[in-house]
Amino acid sequence: MAMTYSKKVMDHFINPRNVGELEDADGVGEVGNAKCGDIMKVYLKVKNGILADVKFKTFGCASAIATSSMATELIKGKPVGEALELTNKAVVEALDGLPPVKIHCSVLAEEAVKAAIKDYYDRTGTAYDAALFADLESEHEHGDLALTEDYSSST
Ligand code: FES
Repeated sequence: MAMTYSKKVMDHFINPRNVGELEDADGVGEVGNAKCGDIMKVYLKVKNGILADVKFKTFGCASAIATSSMATELIKGKPVGEALELTNKAVVEALDGLPPVKIHCSVLAEEAVKAAIKDYYDRTGTAYDAALFADLESEHEHGDLALTEDYSSST
């Protein structure tokens, strides 16, 4: 069945922002979805508590690329703590929606950002509430990252 994507999704898929790596990144997060096999990696450069630069590399579907692109746009230039509040819902809204079976792609983008921030906190010895990253931890343990109920209805 053909899926309909918003103009913004198509734009961020065809013209993704912030693609690449940061050699001297202060935080790197990599997450994957065991079912679809897609992988996202987010790199952060932090200056005075602000995300001075953000890059990503995504091996995945069109929605995975569009959501990582939009997620990096939404957090770039923001304080680290504020970026941590990014939700997959905000990413979907900024893209003018995603087909229901593609919502899990936006979850992966949120998780990649969170994983990169956690890495930054760990590297810098910043204290944080482990509950903030509880989802990441449990998903790592099960080797089944960012798997959501939304995905179970997709093929
Ligand atoms: Fe898995 Fe999009 S992230 S299909």
